[in-house]
Amino acid sequence: MKRFLTTIITACVCILSGAQPVPAYLDPTRPIEERIDDALSRMTLEEKVRLCHAQGKFYSNGVPRLGIPGLWSSDGPHGVRYEMQWAGWGHAGWETDSCTAFPSLTCLAATWNEELAYQYGRGVGEEARYRNKQVMLGPGVNIYRTPLCGRNFEYMGEDPLLTSRMCVPYIKGVQSMGVASCVKHFCLNNQETNRMSVNVEVSERALREIYLPAFKAAVEEAGVWSLMGAYNKVRGTHACHNHYTLQEILKGEWGFDGAVLSDWDGTHNAREAAYNGLDIEMGTSNRPDKGINGRQFRFDDSYLGLDFLHALRNGTYPESLLTDKVRRVLRLIFRTSMNGRTDFGNQDFAAHSRIVRQIGSEGVVLLQNNKVGNAPLLPVDAHNYNRILLVGDNANRILSHGGQSSELNPQHETSVLQALTSLYGDKLTYAQGYSTDERQNSLLLDEAVRLAHQADLIIYVGGLNKEGGQDCEGSDRKDMSLPYSQDKLIEALLNVNPRMITVLMSGNAVALPHVSRMPAILHAWYLGSDAGDIIADIISGVVCPSGKLPFTYPLRLADSPAHAFSAEAYPGVDGTEIYKEDILVGYRWYDTKKMQVLFPFGYGLSYTTFSISGVKLTGGRTVTATISNTGNRAGKEVVQLYIGDDKASVLRPLKELKHFKKVSLEPGETQTVSFTIDDADLKFYDEAAHSWRLEPGTFTAYVGTSSRDIQGKVKIKV
Ligand code: BGC
Repeated sequence: MKRFLTTIITACVCILSGAQPVPAYLDPTRPIEERIDDALSRMTLEEKVRLCHAQGKFYSNGVPRLGIPGLWSSDGPHGVRYEMQWAGWGHAGWETDSCTAFPSLTCLAATWNEELAYQYGRGVGEEARYRNKQVMLGPGVNIYRTPLCGRNFEYMGEDPLLTSRMCVPYIKGVQSMGVASCVKHFCLNNQETNRMSVNVEVSERALREIYLPAFKAAVEEAGVWSLMGAYNKVRGTHACHNHYTLQEILKGEWGFDGAVLSDWDGTHNAREAAYNGLDIEMGTSNRPDKGINGRQFRFDDSYLGLDFLHALRNGTYPESLLTDKVRRVLRLIFRTSMNGRTDFGNQDFAAHSRIVRQIGSEGVVLLQNNKVGNAPLLPVDAHNYNRILLVGDNANRILSHGGQSSELNPQHETSVLQALTSLYGDKLTYAQGYSTDERQNSLLLDEAVRLAHQADLIIYVGGLNKEGGQDCEGSDRKDMSLPYSQDKLIEALLNVNPRMITVLMSGNAVALPHVSRMPAILHAWYLGSDAGDIIADIISGVVCPSGKLPFTYPLRLADSPAHAFSAEAYPGVDGTEIYKEDILVGYRWYDTKKMQVLFPFGYGLSYTTFSISGVKLTGGRTVTATISNTGNRAGKEVVQLYIGDDKASVLRPLKELKHFKKVSLEPGETQTVSFTIDDADLKFYDEAAHSWRLEPGTFTAYVGTSSRDIQGKVKIKV
């Protein structure tokens, strides 16, 4: 009634003053659904169809006649990508498209700090808005199933709870700027090998317990506005137009009201695209003479383009299919470019660098810090050294470049070489040590070894990089070894001087055959714009490391669940891959099978020490624990709570992460943390009943600082 009166009054004022009333769809103060109804009532069939497919590589249509702008999208997820060509995959060649490179999402996950995830998303959202992007293609929340997956660095590790907890604030941060997150790749895109075609067969239970929770949290908790389908097939049908995952689960069970975008060129079937939940088709031309270069690309030739229009006109499809898609696309436009906001976002590189630095500082994981002489090698007291040798290609490489779609054009990226040069001045010498061109490696090794003889400390910066076949979209690694003969180099350097700090830049676990001889190891991900400074702060002790692994380092590839079976389980045979490890992904596998690992999930050392005591049940379902900083400097620790079902009618993992909290403690300080266990923490997915089930009995809550460092347990009876 109130709305009706407002409309009448507005109309009267307009008539009396001679002005045209503002149509409802243009009025951001009106409820979105009303605006959608109004816009729909004014649109032709052709205009509606044009909303459902791309009109450029990263642009999809609006309704120009009505002044409704189209949607600009950009990768994602670590910052706003280069401006791209209209129809090709090349860079547009702009000079104004630099950005802040945020640390890789794996690093964000390693912070175990939800507040930082919000800051990250907010920063990306501010830059996206400044660059006029309405849809940011990320975050990636696919689960780390194999250490070989080329895109693991874009995801958040092997655990569904950690991924969920971290992606929700990230999405909220992006969307707080009126920019949509596009959570991807839905679903089961867990490898790059044959990603465009591989058919994934997975049990319903593993789907629900491992692979879907983060997407569900993105929809139900973060209210994400868009989602991208994956390239692969799920149980026989491509994920971009899969009735079960998109229509039944996403839009049905979870009530997703946003728009589903296809991955670029991920649409393969007109009828499925029409019926099975795809709303905006990106990247495809379905004509055999596919012109994808320059302006030859005929975007109207998409499955949801002219063919769709003809099929709607001749009655092959009911118009209700189209209406649902158009409502979703309009909703996305009204939530973003037509949301009535007048702010421009911001590209405050200095402010965003501070966020990068904080995330990197809390994400780098100290894997090993053994004593050499009578003290641990880290942090480095420069007074103790006269000649420091820095070795490694990654110490002097811009790692925000490469990796394909997540590539960035950072406004600045400090290298480790730059940062350590300003820290150590003349004391520092640099040797490249290895190169991506294998032919140079024996000469580079000789040079590094020669210089190592004169050094009293070596800092080695290696790992993977963003070249194809490493941490890069489009292919998986062949094995877990460090590339470019690095093991040989590491061994040769250790032979000369065991005082060596190793910094691994990598989005994945790597094989470390010389690990027992490597006194200090940092897992440093890809740290973005302030990479060098972050590493310098940790090496010099300005920052006390507090990152925790979001995945397990297995002892060998064959130990890891996806590789413990035949090729059917990875990378698939005859186009199909069966997830034979089922629900036992990551630590769920190693723990349940009682296997040794190199570095466990949730693990990471500090320059101080912590202890957890007094783990007890207070009230029926609240677990409390006391954590103390027992060392002599301030630091942060993550208290982790895992739950195991003592006896169940189905196989359950020994334990599963259900809660965590990162705490900051001064030396000697103590804090009590408490977690409330709810039914959802105890349930498993019952395939027969097609629902979550709580089985009465006794459960164990394990409290510790990693999946293997459990410092207290309590029993919970249900
Ligand atoms: C990737 C997506 C990306 C899209 C656009 C695809 O190849 O799988 O993650 O967002 O390209 O660059």
